[in-house]
Amino acid sequence: MGLSIAAGVAFWDHAPEGARGAPLLLVHGAGGTHLHWPETLRALPGRRVLAVDLPGHGQAPLPGETTIAGYAGALLGMLDALGIPRAVVAGHSMGGAIALSLAMDAPDRVAGLFLVGTGARLRVAPAILEGSADPARAAEVAEGVAAFSFGPSTSVADRAAHARAVAALPAGVLHDDFAACDAFDAMARLGSIRAPAFVVVGEEDRLTPPKYAAFLRERLPGEGLLLVPGAGHMVAIESPIEVTAAAAAFLDRVSP
Ligand code: COA
Repeated sequence: MGLSIAAGVAFWDHAPEGARGAPLLLVHGAGGTHLHWPETLRALPGRRVLAVDLPGHGQAPLPGETTIAGYAGALLGMLDALGIPRAVVAGHSMGGAIALSLAMDAPDRVAGLFLVGTGARLRVAPAILEGSADPARAAEVAEGVAAFSFGPSTSVADRAAHARAVAALPAGVLHDDFAACDAFDAMARLGSIRAPAFVVVGEEDRLTPPKYAAFLRERLPGEGLLLVPGAGHMVAIESPIEVTAAAAAFLDRVSP
């Protein structure tokens, strides 16, 4: 399963023989990469899974995008290049905003929404937004973000590794992501979404708290909300077994 690039998006295409249903598209959050999804989900048995690095992130070429719609457009370009008509879109944090945007603006392409640690509106704390605009404060902002990204059981070493990865992003990419999140507001538009949705949130998520997940659950079609005790904003890698099982069950319901 090697790296490919289409429409500025880097992707790893896990395509087991006899894979059934619509492919699962894994979309990471602000400053993230495909590694913010657990291996168990990126290599889900019996399903085609496309795990991406968004433009400007990880192994994808620069530049990044500056809006949620821009990232959604890049993903549509990738799906077009691969000849994939419809996907179940899993989005974490900013990736959830991108998934919602796809479901609203390209409904024919979205067979389902698996929304993890995200919300219909993603205002960013001014200290994070402003700090991320200053390259001299990259390490400090990365440490702050990492400190708020995990539940209490994540080790100091794992938090530090996360902070280093965020601090190593090319200048401007993290700030552009946060600005894209801050400008995103789909609260009044969720009613137009027809794709069935499943919502996942860590009980200790301080960046997109369970209140945001409850709002999505109330207003989107489908059923199911997984509240993971002890997990924070990085719930998918903090609790990979629970989140992978929920995704597999959701896929079996919406795209058998
Ligand atoms: N779903 C449901 N409710 C939401 C929501 C969402 N996605 N986004 C905001 N709201 C609610 C808030 O809880 C608040 O409700 P309240 O008035 O009952 O307390 C109201 O809408 C207004 O919230 P908001 O627009 O966020 O403005 P604010 O001035 O209260 O707070 C921040 C601004 C930035 C301090 C706050 O949004 C925050 O702490 N955000 C999380 C931290 C962060 O930076 N996250 C990064 C996400 S990538």
